[in-house]
Amino acid sequence: MLLDNIGLLISNDPVHGEGRLGLRRDAALACADGRVVWIGDAGKAPEGTAGDRVDAAGRCVLPGFVDSHTHLVFAGDRAQEFAARLAGAAYAAGGIRSTVAATRAASDAALRANARRLAVEALRQGTTTLEVKSGYGLTVDDERRSLVAAEQIAHPGLPHLVTTFLGAHVVPTESADDPDGYVRLVTGPMLDACAPHAAWCDVFCEDGAFDAAQSRAVLEAGRARGLGLRVHANQLGPGPGARLAAEVGASAADHLTHLSDADIAVLAEAGVVATLLPGVEFSTRAPWAPARRLLDAGVTVALATDCNPGTSYTSSMPMVVAWACREYGLTPDEAVWAATAGGAAALALEGHGTLRPGAPADLVVLDAPTHIHLAYRPAVPLAGLVVRGGRVVYSMPGDREKEQQA
Ligand code: NIG
Ligand code: FE
Repeated sequence: MLLDNIGLLISNDPVHGEGRLGLRRDAALACADGRVVWIGDAGKAPEGTAGDRVDAAGRCVLPGFVDSHTHLVFAGDRAQEFAARLAGAAYAAGGIRSTVAATRAASDAALRANARRLAVEALRQGTTTLEVKSGYGLTVDDERRSLVAAEQIAHPGLPHLVTTFLGAHVVPTESADDPDGYVRLVTGPMLDACAPHAAWCDVFCEDGAFDAAQSRAVLEAGRARGLGLRVHANQLGPGPGARLAAEVGASAADHLTHLSDADIAVLAEAGVVATLLPGVEFSTRAPWAPARRLLDAGVTVALATDCNPGTSYTSSMPMVVAWACREYGLTPDEAVWAATAGGAAALALEGHGTLRPGAPADLVVLDAPTHIHLAYRPAVPLAGLVVRGGRVVYSMPGDREKEQQA
């Protein structure tokens, strides 16, 4: 496929253009076998790179969003809990247990259908890679079948899926009297059943969930099964999560709403990616995470949706970019980088989140002339065409006519 007549290409590769975003005007991009094979000037594709020609009609093209933190496997919703928060109630981790009850009662087919629905929703907003966690099952079998549901919806026409085991999301009701017994279940039989279906191990290190010692035990058991590590940290208040992420060499620490300068220094020193989730702060009426302090300290920042029914029921990476610009004080360049290359760094996915020869041909043709429009036109559907693995997997109704008019 040849994507020609690109008004503004964001490659995230300084070799291919200006600045960190590698911005290039009037560009074209060719792909073959699912990968980018050539980037150059509009109208100048070398012989043999043509195949299917798609006209970007002068619009902006960027790497597909890499949403590195979601909880798509669940049943039910919590609209009433959200409404109660709007009326002043505080968010507490205990709400997770109501989704656990609904998830345990749901069939495998229902879990797959709900996760697939949300993955399609994300794709239509430009997401081409999605991390998906378990964590609403909290028994050996319900955690295993949650991960299997995520594996089973994988399809070339959906975002690329990466699975994470989150058996240590909260202590389930039946183990309330014996949290350490639950940690032994997670680090033993549950991980044995789940590790074959996951790339990553996560833990919710927070008051009301797991303390530092319990979280460390979970992460070490995950590492012993060959899983990469990530941590839900410092979401509801200050705590040990960010420091623990650094100590165990996690790829990413996520949420980070409440950070001290010392926490930030430790994350920077350890090279842990800070994954910020502004949808959670919006939905739970929490303070905004200290994104600028993280960036100024040299920490790599990723942006993700945290799509889940409790704290952030959105699959929209464009909305996340808009929040990051308006509420975190990121520039559009910083926000778009964090939502693409930043997410790829958080998931240690080499080449994803960039457009350069050899990288996966996963991209979005925005129905807008610049990436600034993601924040400038919030909540407007702007994904004109979504390409994954070199194939158009979504086109906005009417988009192909635009191409013909161009
Ligand atoms: O990432 N923080 C922990 N877990 C989820 C919330 C889950 C829920 O409330 O259902 C999160 O925000
Ligand atoms: Fe989460």
